[in-house]
Amino acid sequence: MAGWFITFEGVEGSGKTTQIRLAGEFLRERGLPVVVTQEPGGTPLGDRIRELLLNRGGFDISGEAEVFLFAAARAQHTDAVILPALEAGKIVLCDRFSDATIAYQAYGRGLPQEPVREICRFASRGLVPHLTILFDLPVEAGLERAFRRIAGRESNLREDRFEREHLDFHRRIREGYLAIARQEPGRLKVVDASAGIEPTRREVQSVLSAFLGG
Ligand SMILES: Nc1ncnc2c1ncn2[C@@H]1O[C@H](COP(=O)(O)OP(=O)(O)OP(=O)(O)O)[C@@H](O)[C@H]1O
Ligand SMILES: [Mg+2]
Repeated sequence: MAGWFITFEGVEGSGKTTQIRLAGEFLRERGLPVVVTQEPGGTPLGDRIRELLLNRGGFDISGEAEVFLFAAARAQHTDAVILPALEAGKIVLCDRFSDATIAYQAYGRGLPQEPVREICRFASRGLVPHLTILFDLPVEAGLERAFRRIAGRESNLREDRFEREHLDFHRRIREGYLAIARQEPGRLKVVDASAGIEPTRREVQSVLSAFLGG
């Protein structure tokens, strides 16, 4: 496989979507072929699943069902978007991937890790990111940013099903992400996301430069 697969992870409002756009611009300005994509989503099927998962639909979704919905979106996204782009030698920047399912559904919801990891491996055809940038900050700060963003949207476009969970759920997710970073320090680089957009952007650029230059 010729390209590089780089994922952006972190709790709600940690700045993934803001920083992935800036990182895409940074790499494009250096003349590198970049694809920016996101989960759930990135394909027509993924976009439909995203609506089910993130908008309040007035119906329950169990933790197990949630794992399979994310996995279905990921399988389509991996097949239709990520693998073809990597095979074409592109740098794929992806807003969330398998680590999010481990952090949210295993650490956050308390589902057993091994089956969740196995479903993620199956859905992604064993694809593991070459680099994962983990945006870390206290969950209260991230949720405050996320709710400010949500309040600015039309009510039918509010993707707030996860934001509305209890603080403890979000704290377990943060700790889960940090545990994954301790398990795989070579792949995950933790970036302090509590500062402003600009210092975080500089830190992301230096992580990307070190990774791509080395
Ligand atoms: N470093 C920062 N300081 C202050 N505000 C920020 C910072 N980074 C992003 N924001 C703002 O906080 C909000 C959430 O940021 P963003 O959407 O990038 O986070 P996210 O990690 O993608 O969130 P989600 O998990 O909900 O998709 C946005 O309105 C964004 O403009
Ligand atoms: Mg986002």
